[in-house]
Amino acid sequence: MATTSESNAPDPSLLAKAETLVEALPYLQRYAGQTFVVKYGGHAMGDAETARQFAADIVLLRQCGINPVVVHGGGPQIGSMLKRLGVESRFVDGLRVTDAVTVDVAEMVLAGAVGKEIVGWIGTAGGRAAGISGKDGWLVTARKVERPDGTDLGYVGEPLHVDRTIIDTLTSAGIIPVVAPIAIGTDGWTYNINADTMAGAIAAALGAARFFLLTDVAGVLDKQKRLLTDLSPNDITTLISDGTIAGGMIPKVETCVKAVEQGVGAAVILDGRVPHVMLLEMFTQRGAGTLIGRAA
Ligand SMILES: Nc1ncnc2c1ncn2[C@@H]1O[C@H](COP(=O)(O)OP(=O)(O)OP(=O)(O)O)[C@@H](O)[C@H]1O
Ligand SMILES: [Mg+2]
Repeated sequence: MATTSESNAPDPSLLAKAETLVEALPYLQRYAGQTFVVKYGGHAMGDAETARQFAADIVLLRQCGINPVVVHGGGPQIGSMLKRLGVESRFVDGLRVTDAVTVDVAEMVLAGAVGKEIVGWIGTAGGRAAGISGKDGWLVTARKVERPDGTDLGYVGEPLHVDRTIIDTLTSAGIIPVVAPIAIGTDGWTYNINADTMAGAIAAALGAARFFLLTDVAGVLDKQKRLLTDLSPNDITTLISDGTIAGGMIPKVETCVKAVEQGVGAAVILDGRVPHVMLLEMFTQRGAGTLIGRAA
């Protein structure tokens, strides 16, 4: 037999939890049935606890009737495998020249290890996920990146065409797609695509309501390292030309602008190291990170 005190006043901390759920209701109603594309950066994949929280958030979104699609990176993971294998890399303007051996390693690491690790975390959180690459079901067809200065980067591609069939098939079966940024080119070769660019092309093809890019910084920072919370395409052009936005942040912001122009509801760059950052963005008035484009 169990007993409790006679008072029917609920425990304040439990009440706060109930209130949080009720506050989320309008957001849940607004997002139900919509697609969210989440780019999970290789740099944001830190410790096991962060990965566990990320996976739990993805499963929660799915449970709330949202269709999440995960596209992941893996720059650091590819780098450390190349080092272990003793494969030397050549860089041009900070970009890794991807020869035949390097693209093999990239495919092995991204589609074989990183993707399956995320699938495992989602499974542990009680969800069902499938790790695929752009090759599966012709999800993404690539073309070789041609640089204006003529530098040959090897097997570095960009998305030419997206066929959403495999995503729709998995999603309608209750399976969360986890996509590695590898695709076949029109020439039949395998290409490694920048994961941000890959995610943006998929977000546009799916008409995603939200495009979240989880990385290892708070968002886009200015020269004084302050967070820029909203950016227009014009702001972005200025910040790239004056050198404020550099390195891996360039494809990220360019992808966001393109995705929003192509009909994605809003693109948000978020700090993947912050626990439950996607939920904070979705369920609070003024979210975290840098918003590019108008919210639907
Ligand atoms: N203005 C800026 N604000 C914030 N970060 C910037 C800025 N300019 C350059 N960066 C760099 O961009 C990095 C994020 O891009 P990066 O490609 O390294 O990570 P990612 O895309 O999350 O991971 P991956 O490429 O493995 O998928 C930051 O860690 C930072 O060093
Ligand atoms: Mg990157």
